[in-house]
Amino acid sequence: MKNLASDIQYDRKQWTIDSWRSKKHIIGPHYSDLKLLEEIEKKLVGYSPLVGYNEVLRLKDYFTKACLGQVFILQAGDCAEAIIDLPEKKVQSTCDLFGQMIEMLQPALNVPIVPVGRIAGQFAKSRTDQYEIKNGIKLPSYQGDAVNTIEFKSDKRQADPNRLILSYNYARQILNDLHQNIGSHSLFQQTGFYTSHEAFLLPYEQSLARKIPETDQYYTSSAHMVWLGERTRYYESAHIEFLRGIQNPLGIKCGPTMTINDFLSLIEIFNPGNIPGRLMAIIRMGSKEIKEKLPPLLKAARHHNLHILWSCDPMHGNTVYSSHGYKTRNFQHILNELKDFVSIVQGEGNYVGGIHLELTAENVTECLGGAQNIKENDLSKNYKSYCDPRLNKSQALQLISDFSKFL
Ligand code: PEP
Ligand code: CO
Repeated sequence: MKNLASDIQYDRKQWTIDSWRSKKHIIGPHYSDLKLLEEIEKKLVGYSPLVGYNEVLRLKDYFTKACLGQVFILQAGDCAEAIIDLPEKKVQSTCDLFGQMIEMLQPALNVPIVPVGRIAGQFAKSRTDQYEIKNGIKLPSYQGDAVNTIEFKSDKRQADPNRLILSYNYARQILNDLHQNIGSHSLFQQTGFYTSHEAFLLPYEQSLARKIPETDQYYTSSAHMVWLGERTRYYESAHIEFLRGIQNPLGIKCGPTMTINDFLSLIEIFNPGNIPGRLMAIIRMGSKEIKEKLPPLLKAARHHNLHILWSCDPMHGNTVYSSHGYKTRNFQHILNELKDFVSIVQGEGNYVGGIHLELTAENVTECLGGAQNIKENDLSKNYKSYCDPRLNKSQALQLISDFSKFL
């Protein structure tokens, strides 16, 4: 992986909606039926947008205010959405949990808290391991319900273009239910409720990109905001190419391998005009590394007077495997990273603009610790995640309560 730093000028050829396709190495599923994929993409292009540009602008405005500490962005949801989850039930429980978290945070923050779900599109996963081996059988890894299925069977693990349509329809149902819920939930009436996901599956994102009225620019109608994941941030990345021309607010996951030059290059590529509200840095260094790795990024941003919304994902840098092989995270490590994030960001004279969590309202046993004191032996009791371990409702509320005391 070549460092972006050596490419600070980047390739400034003209951006087009499909210019990402000319990149040599595109991370993503391998589709064997390319003709079918093309047909499905064409179909999606003809579908109505999932979210409207006016709502995207509203969130962008909130991002601008969050850079100045006038708004707080609470982003949370599943690691990988399961399309079998009933939309109505899922929306109801997600909104209820967001409502409780907002009520808990409100007194400490005293600014509007804007809910952004990892929802209605978080169903494509970039995986570290391309294959999974079980009992000597090697199959492609699960890559999210938009690509293949979790079942460990050869035909179920093939990337199926039809699942793009399935995903679109599911996202539409979730959005319909969200609209209804927002209307009846007084907390969300003022702010709205927004959707987000990692912009990983570029055929889906391109097909749902729409022209912004009266301009030549595009936004993706797949969500209000999208982010660049840790695994697609590399030299000559197709994902960076696609996202640089997409006008939604963007997140950049910043893990421990992010150098100052990578960081500055990405900001230059995505936000050459240094417009506040365009970029959220989602810090996910891990509790062991944040103290060393975050301050240089904050200093560089200050040196160049860059407008960044500083958020923290205390989940992805703290993933470990239990002795029984469960992917898990320790509540205390998650909390420690958040605590250090707050003191480092505030210590550098910046605002804590948001947090980014993986959670569910269900009483799962995926993360260790918390008030229920979940232990390694408990993980198997109700481990339901298709991908990364989520905080359950009790752990999520406890985290928010503890976090509010750091502010
Ligand atoms: C995620 O958000 O689910 C994820 C995979 O994060 P990251 O790209 O930061 O590892
Ligand atoms: Co995850």
